[in-house]
Amino acid sequence: MSKLRIAVQKSGRLNEDSMKILKDIGISIDNGKDQLKASARNFPVEVFYLRNGDIPQYLKDGVVDAAIIGENVLIEKGNNIRVAEKLGFSTCRVCIAVPKANKYTSIKDLEGKRIATSYPNTVQMYLDENGVNANLHIINGSVEIAPNIGLADAICDIVSSGSTLFKNNLKEAEVILKSEAVLAVSPILSDEKQEILNKIQFRIQSVLKGRNSKYILLNAPNDKIDDIINVLPGMKSPTVLPLAEEGWSSVHSVINKNEFWEVIDELKDNGAQGILVCPIEKMVL
Ligand code: PRP
Repeated sequence: MSKLRIAVQKSGRLNEDSMKILKDIGISIDNGKDQLKASARNFPVEVFYLRNGDIPQYLKDGVVDAAIIGENVLIEKGNNIRVAEKLGFSTCRVCIAVPKANKYTSIKDLEGKRIATSYPNTVQMYLDENGVNANLHIINGSVEIAPNIGLADAICDIVSSGSTLFKNNLKEAEVILKSEAVLAVSPILSDEKQEILNKIQFRIQSVLKGRNSKYILLNAPNDKIDDIINVLPGMKSPTVLPLAEEGWSSVHSVINKNEFWEVIDELKDNGAQGILVCPIEKMVL
């Protein structure tokens, strides 16, 4: 039986969360740190630990069947690589930044200027869209130092917390794109491998739905149950169970983690007590 070959970042910002999501979908890997390749014990999957920038080409050539990779890298290097699933971690943005002290009003300010970047295709596309001509200096790593050493007037790189820009006295001037980790798929995929991928995607969706939701339990007087149910959307409809105490019920439901505090306030206003909020590991609808 063939195995699906999945590439993950060998080291760097995506590595840990990529291994975590594989673990959460039940794929156990004996991960010797120096290994370049490892087989899952309980699923037809082989994991390849590769350099970020090499992954799009391996996908194009069908050397690997799928990859967990930053969208930013795909956009820079991976024309026509299909994104099967957004994974919700390693969010960042690809930005142009300039020295803090410089006045910046628009991208036109960069006409004729030097921009240091590891994202030449992405930044060139953006400059072309805006009709700006600039000189690109391609450097791999430590891009933020370039203006300080007189190598460039601006940079284009990924920004996550913004602390690297801050430490190098730079400010964000333009956000070119927003990115997160995705599950990307090779254009060359047999039907058999597509089936394995479908199973993986289904599991990933269950994990992501779980991560985005909370299980909520509360007690309420019976005459308030209808009001409380109106606040709680639930998966189908909330579960209502009688409590030992006469006139009271326990209500169970699932809520979106982003709406959590607003919902809690409304529940309290409607007479809910003893509210418990629990994480959900997986959610299969
Ligand atoms: C990236 C990027 C920036 C930094 C931004 O480097 O090149 O230097 O992260 O993150 P921040 O906004 O949270 O400070 P990374 O650490 O991924 O390593 P790299 O230099 O190998 O790209």
